[in-house]
Amino acid sequence: MNKKQAYKQLLDFAKQAAENSYSPYSKFKVGAAVLCEDNKVFCGTNVENASYGLSMCAERVAVFTAVANGCKKIKALAIYSKKGDVTPCGACRQVISEFSKTADIVYNTKGDSFKTVKISSLLPKSFDVKTLKK
Ligand code: THU
Repeated sequence: MNKKQAYKQLLDFAKQAAENSYSPYSKFKVGAAVLCEDNKVFCGTNVENASYGLSMCAERVAVFTAVANGCKKIKALAIYSKKGDVTPCGACRQVISEFSKTADIVYNTKGDSFKTVKISSLLPKSFDVKTLKK
């Protein structure tokens, strides 16, 4: 399987995850799927709350699920929404950057197509204590 096929498959996992979205307030369903270094895939969806600020994005649910299952190196993360063109919010960009500076972010666009962008171009110079001078 080439990269394009692998990313299309990852996006399909994200699409499936979006079906489980709990978003009665925004009515905006988002699904995410993380491809880890060992080729395992972990999914997430947005989970909202009556106390709006407690809501969680699909991307962070997917990343935290990967970590909880022993995967700390991210190769790619796909995001699906019906509208398309959704890229991770600022908070999710920082969380993804914790586990990879080079991950590909894959997101669906109009029709059946998708785009890929590097996390480093979405969040240049992410906060990272490991690279701070002593
Ligand atoms: N949301 C995500 O899950 N991921 C994004 O990249 C954008 C926004 C969720 C948060 C909230 O549940 C809903 O979409 C509307 O903002």
